[in-house]
Amino acid sequence: MSDYVSTFSYQTAICHAPQFAPRAYKHFTVSPVTGAIGADVEGIDLTTASDEAIAELEQALTDHLALMIRDQTLEPEQQIAFARRLGNPFPWPYAKQMDGYPEITELIQEPRDKYAFGGTWHSDSCNFESPPKFTMLYCVECPSVGGDTGFSNQYLAWEALDADLKAELDGVRAVHSAELGYGTGSQDPEVLANATTTVQYSADQFNEALHPVARTHPVTGRKALYVNDSFTASFEGKTQAESLPLLKKLWAHSIIPEFTGRLRWKKGSLAIWDNRCCMHYAHSDYPGHRREMRRIVIAGERPE
Ligand SMILES: [Fe+2]
Repeated sequence: MSDYVSTFSYQTAICHAPQFAPRAYKHFTVSPVTGAIGADVEGIDLTTASDEAIAELEQALTDHLALMIRDQTLEPEQQIAFARRLGNPFPWPYAKQMDGYPEITELIQEPRDKYAFGGTWHSDSCNFESPPKFTMLYCVECPSVGGDTGFSNQYLAWEALDADLKAELDGVRAVHSAELGYGTGSQDPEVLANATTTVQYSADQFNEALHPVARTHPVTGRKALYVNDSFTASFEGKTQAESLPLLKKLWAHSIIPEFTGRLRWKKGSLAIWDNRCCMHYAHSDYPGHRREMRRIVIAGERPE
């Protein structure tokens, strides 16, 4: 398998990368934040939105991959009710869930914390056989600046790869490992000791899954690159050492600036993104400040 990814082909492909189609939305306004990914949404109340408005919101998510929906006031019950309109929320097994609300994970950073939860590029829970299709975060508290969430468009990442490399990788599967993401050695013990929200992982929760390197989105039919340096251990049938040279090139390729955008938080904003076609990254640039998010993940299908 070739381990060479041409930087020249990036430039050529990026110049011709398809952007989102401009679309008029009826129930809210959508303001894209970059040409590649992400949009702010204003003018919708998630507690009272009609079925037609929710369907249109899903269309906006399909168009922009990650949305920041502004000006919400959501009690846990209301966030769960909204999540249920998009699919089936499920308890995430690697952290203590919110008291009384098994669907919600509280992601809290206190001013003293040295650990940014989610501070790597990844697609959520890709170590599951059927990873969640959507993740949503509701902002209870955040610093006035800092703590953005970054996103990277993995349709564009796949489409921009050299044609020969795409041909080689199409149909190849990769191992995604919880041990790699959460196990011994994945975090600095001293940093973890100063963390409010941590992953509760033990070897008996070990699981891993085999997924296509290029997965096909069930709604759009487009292929998206689906490897990341948090969980992807190796290509199927190859050792980690054999796999790493090409994996490292794919990881670097998957987050080049032209594929990325970042969404800025405010109290009362709710972000939702599609794990099947984007990766995300929690920016840790707010030492000394408090940040509190409520997260729900929505069940997805087995990647194909
Ligand atoms: Fe995440």
